[in-house]
Amino acid sequence: MSRSCLAVILAAGDSTRMKSSMSKVLHKVAGRPMIAHVMAAVASTGVSDAALVVGRDAEAVVKAGSLDGVSVEAFQQTERLGTGHAVLAAKDAIARGYDDILVAYGDVPLVTPAPFAAAREKLAQGADVVVIGFHTDNPNGYGRLLVEDGELIAIREEKDATDEERRITWCNSGLMAIDGRKALSLLERIRNDNAKGEYYLTDIVEIARAAGGRVMVVDAPETEVAGCNNRAELAVLERHWQERRRQELMLSGVTMIAPETVFLSYDTEIAQDAVIEPNVFFGPHVTVESGAVIHSFSHIEGAHIGADAEIGPFARLRPGAKLLVHAKVGNFCEVKNSEIGEGAKVNHLTYIGDSFVGPRANIGAGTITCNYDGVNKHVTRIGANSFIGSNSSLVAPVSIGDGAYIASGSVITEDVPADALALGRARQEVKPERAKVIRERALAFKAAKKAGK
Ligand code: UD1
Ligand code: MG
Repeated sequence: MSRSCLAVILAAGDSTRMKSSMSKVLHKVAGRPMIAHVMAAVASTGVSDAALVVGRDAEAVVKAGSLDGVSVEAFQQTERLGTGHAVLAAKDAIARGYDDILVAYGDVPLVTPAPFAAAREKLAQGADVVVIGFHTDNPNGYGRLLVEDGELIAIREEKDATDEERRITWCNSGLMAIDGRKALSLLERIRNDNAKGEYYLTDIVEIARAAGGRVMVVDAPETEVAGCNNRAELAVLERHWQERRRQELMLSGVTMIAPETVFLSYDTEIAQDAVIEPNVFFGPHVTVESGAVIHSFSHIEGAHIGADAEIGPFARLRPGAKLLVHAKVGNFCEVKNSEIGEGAKVNHLTYIGDSFVGPRANIGAGTITCNYDGVNKHVTRIGANSFIGSNSSLVAPVSIGDGAYIASGSVITEDVPADALALGRARQEVKPERAKVIRERALAFKAAKKAGK
């Protein structure tokens, strides 16, 4: 769409019911602040400029709401005098003159671009105000959409509504689109002569109609425009977000055996034919390629899992873990900031940090890369086709050459050339009959003690 657009996002609420030391819109759904979800949805409809109306934590809210490709400007609303007043806090931005103004709340993280795009489409067709509405079985607390002859004539706030109006189940989501050329003159006519003594943005419907303008409604599903007032509602939003994203992934070809136990982040990408077993957690910035299998109880963040790779059960992949094709990270292993080469195996009880593991290397059980000296991190390089015996410590910085063998239980502090065998442990000694002598001495000691000597 070539029309210019400003999104005005209201985020100046006190969030008292969140009982939080930070602004409500900074609380996360799917690992991302709610404000960023909203910004992403409006940005998807081609919005280039956003005005964030903020109260507390202004700096943090702007930071969280700043997305690539959108320029964000903050406007402080010092007194909280209602939604109409809040939009006017961004007066200087609106006055710059846009074709479209979108109004959204910062606490509706499940909103999709669809209703915004539909509302802007109506503006392009000549509407002055487009209200985004929804149908609900429980309209309590919402503004009701009053319709006459098929046209929206007003939005009635709960506190100002008659009993009959309260029975209406078609409600105002609070999201709206306004003709940018007329927005300021309409907004400035809003008064506060109502039950709450607030400047209601919703009065714009009657004001626009009185001025001969066209007002329209587009609908959105109730769950998508739901806001959040407390932590219990935050958890409900999280649940709905997770359900929606799991569904999308499954329909795109991802197998989830027990989807309700898989937790995704806002940017989790999983390709077709990947299999996710029950109880897997994806933190931010994870990509999973096709055919990969994630076994149960794995915790993954900031990681890339290559095609046909296999991880878990009980694997932990931390930021910077990169598994190439057919790599395997098995149970009770932790991988951080490391590349695991094609077909390499890290099967049991191992820590790999700041390392490069070559293709087809086999890392034995209990191997530890000692990457940290208490001050600095150091790199371990493990060559292709090498074999690291169980319970070895590789003290970084250190390199193991291609095809090298490390004997079990070694502590490796020096580089090992390709195809060499390195042993870094005490040589075994065997003392015939010695165990028997020790045992007999112990039994004699016990007998003497019992006899009271
Ligand atoms: C508003 C709508 C109502 C709608 C409902 C949907 C009005 C008058 N009413 O009611 O029709 O059904 O949302 O949830 O618009 N805010 C500010 N500054 C203010 C006031 C509000 O930034 O001075 C922000 C709040 O942080 C919040 C949003 O605007 O994100 C809505 O304010 P709220 O007080 O929750 O409005 P409701 O009474 O719920
Ligand atoms: Mg509200």
